[in-house]
Amino acid sequence: MRTKQQALFIIFGGTGDLAKRKLYPALFELYRKGILSEHFAVIGTARRPWSDVHYQTVVQNSVSADDQQQANEFSKHFYYQSHNVNDTEHYVTLKKLAERLDQKFQIGGNRLFYLAMSPRFFGTIAGHLKSQKIVTADGYNRMIVEKPFGRDFKSANELNRAIGQYFAEKDVFRIDHYLGKEMVQNIFALRFGNNIFRSLWNSRYIDNIQITLSEALGVEERAGYYETAGALRDMVQNHILQIVSLLTMNMPASYSETDIRREKICALKALKIYQPQEVKQNFVRAQYVAANGLKGYRQEDQIDPKSQTETFVAGKIFVENENFSNVPIYIRTGKRLQTKATRIDIIFKAVPGNIFTTQQLADNILTIKVEPEGEISLQVNTKKVGQGYQLQQQQLNLFPADKLQLIPEAYEKLLADALSGDATNFTHWEEVAYSWKFVDAVRHAWDQQRAALATYSCGSMGPKQADQLLSADGRHWIFN
Ligand code: BG6
Repeated sequence: MRTKQQALFIIFGGTGDLAKRKLYPALFELYRKGILSEHFAVIGTARRPWSDVHYQTVVQNSVSADDQQQANEFSKHFYYQSHNVNDTEHYVTLKKLAERLDQKFQIGGNRLFYLAMSPRFFGTIAGHLKSQKIVTADGYNRMIVEKPFGRDFKSANELNRAIGQYFAEKDVFRIDHYLGKEMVQNIFALRFGNNIFRSLWNSRYIDNIQITLSEALGVEERAGYYETAGALRDMVQNHILQIVSLLTMNMPASYSETDIRREKICALKALKIYQPQEVKQNFVRAQYVAANGLKGYRQEDQIDPKSQTETFVAGKIFVENENFSNVPIYIRTGKRLQTKATRIDIIFKAVPGNIFTTQQLADNILTIKVEPEGEISLQVNTKKVGQGYQLQQQQLNLFPADKLQLIPEAYEKLLADALSGDATNFTHWEEVAYSWKFVDAVRHAWDQQRAALATYSCGSMGPKQADQLLSADGRHWIFN
């Protein structure tokens, strides 16, 4: 059970899409559950000149509530300040407002600074929060940072230093919302709570791992950002490599922030960094083209008609630690694919020697469906009922999909963790650093090669090169 929390949130980027789509609904859920109640307040800041009343209406409209009265009461905890992050005077006003709200809601000095805006302002904001004494002496002061955390190792390192001058690592909560997803968190229970899986979880028994993060949507309204990022930076550096670390880390000494992060860091440090020639063999990048009534990427609003940005990546990667070296991990992600799905398949090695000589044995596959519905299943061989000896494949449902299950949203879980000071499901700087080093090598090779991008049709499962990546090894995508 979570305890009641008291905190003042200061959200930089309070009028933004993320705040409206994710943060306000997540805060409302915490309010409904009583984790936040009377002793909390939110200051939303951004450049627009909104009034408190307007802001409260926006907040109220962004939460879906059966109980309008409750949504209204919730919104009364929200205050707005028009803010230029470079203007010191604005921080003076912010400090006064923060102190007033701290008193009014009897918060006791706990502050969460939420940075949901361009990372180029992170250092300036962190510096002003310190110099203008918006950080308090009598409570905690935590900084939550949204992605992207840099665009390569160098810029991430600079960003980290800029923040690190003012906030200690223990107070910096870097969001990767995939770590807040229920089924991603389930990987710990599955791996370390079951001896059958714990003992099989290595290169002796696992043949390969496949991770797919497919999206049906296109670039939507994020052309400006996406053109500078691409699928590799947008999805692989963070979400996919985080999942890889959870799947390949050694067993931590305990289920605790320090022990888990230590093992995750080791796993990411063990990623095999590719030479340019190896990138060519092991990575595929592609862009979507018009099909099924949908525009191609280059025809989307505000996209360069000659854009070289990849909207799809597939790759084969290796974590060279004791248990996983030689286990290929195939990954892929892309926009405008056939369906929205996040899924992990662990394919176990075949039984050495098939005694059922006339019949094929199906592979044992452990599948973790993260989305759209959480589900964990294991494919096994059993005997068909009846005369003779016929085999059949069956899916053992370890965690049946249940649409009625009320799975909390990732942001709700992560905000609750940040409130209670638990950084287990946030990314440590060293994780970010090793992930960028791996991604930089891929990016660097692509920039050197200038080879044409592959293409794929909207609504497909990606370019044929992504299938060839596996067929060259005598394998295929389990999820198709
Ligand atoms: C974000 C990416 O981090 O994750 C987006 O920037 C992507 O491009 C999104 O659409 C996917 O998240 P989810 O939770 O919908 O799978």
